[in-house]
Amino acid sequence: MKKTMLTGVRPSGNLTIGNYLGAIKNFVDRQDKYESYIFLADLHAITSPQNPEKLKDAIYNAVAMYLACGVDPQKTIVFKQSDVLEHGTLGFIMTFQTKMGELNRMTQFKYKSQGLGKEGVDTGLFVYPTLMVADILLYNTHIVPVGKDQQQHVELTRDLAERFNKRYGQTFEMPDVYVAPVANKVLNLQNPLEKMNKSDSGDNRGTIFLMDDIEVAKKKIMSAKTDSSNKVHFDEENQPGISNLMSILSKITGEDFDSIEKRYEGLGYGVFKKEVADVVANLLSNIQEKYKKYNDRNLLDKILKQGADNARIVANETLNRSLVALGLK
Ligand code: TRP
Repeated sequence: MKKTMLTGVRPSGNLTIGNYLGAIKNFVDRQDKYESYIFLADLHAITSPQNPEKLKDAIYNAVAMYLACGVDPQKTIVFKQSDVLEHGTLGFIMTFQTKMGELNRMTQFKYKSQGLGKEGVDTGLFVYPTLMVADILLYNTHIVPVGKDQQQHVELTRDLAERFNKRYGQTFEMPDVYVAPVANKVLNLQNPLEKMNKSDSGDNRGTIFLMDDIEVAKKKIMSAKTDSSNKVHFDEENQPGISNLMSILSKITGEDFDSIEKRYEGLGYGVFKKEVADVVANLLSNIQEKYKKYNDRNLLDKILKQGADNARIVANETLNRSLVALGLK
């Protein structure tokens, strides 16, 4: 029996190659190995006020983008959280198993509620992690690939699953957290001491967006900040810029650093950057071509409906198990 992998993504738009190489590709490469689920965390999106029209667009765009990046609806169950009502119900139940102290200690809550004062914080922001707990538990999830900022929420999931199982009998599977190693982060091309980020302070010259014009993306690589040694060598401390480009190349093609160094012995940064630019351009044009195909609401509705129908079968079983355990059924 395959183990289960699940992740939830926010409809936040404008994904970068940092998002792709750091997280999305990891998921895509593991689709065959696991029983896989990916969902749009649209209920999580409304923990802060949203413009309904914009939110709808963002949800469709995000689904199309993940599919364009290689999430395969034949292999992975792709759905919207709000289409599977079990999320809300189990979320409610899990909120009742949680102590205020536990939610108060969540660093993401602390960070996001800064300056709002206790009286002004939306309760959605406060209880947001317990909905995530339900997302994970509903599918008997074994591994949850998330970024470091979400690790604490997965640990809360483990605590709550254990608490529930102890009180009411074995009901939930214990999930593991899979965090991509920090060394794998893609860095800003203009400032390789910073992570590549959607909110780039320097005119986006250091950030490659998956929807960037191909020529613009190439230029960004060609003008990436490097050092003056002109030696293609992996040394994150002394040559962070060139190491970042090597890491981008290696992630896309699978070639290791030794082999890249050997190929570029005696050659300068110019030719090397040209290869990285071409490889990135190729990646982007593939993604953009597939995006065009998926950017069709009828097609997306079909995929999401199929995904929700499949997800609901498992989610409903788990919810029922918890209702029986609680004595409600
Ligand atoms: N909280 C996650 C984020 O902000 C998204 C998310 C919601 C999620 N439910 C999840 C991630 C379940 C993994 C598993 O990015």
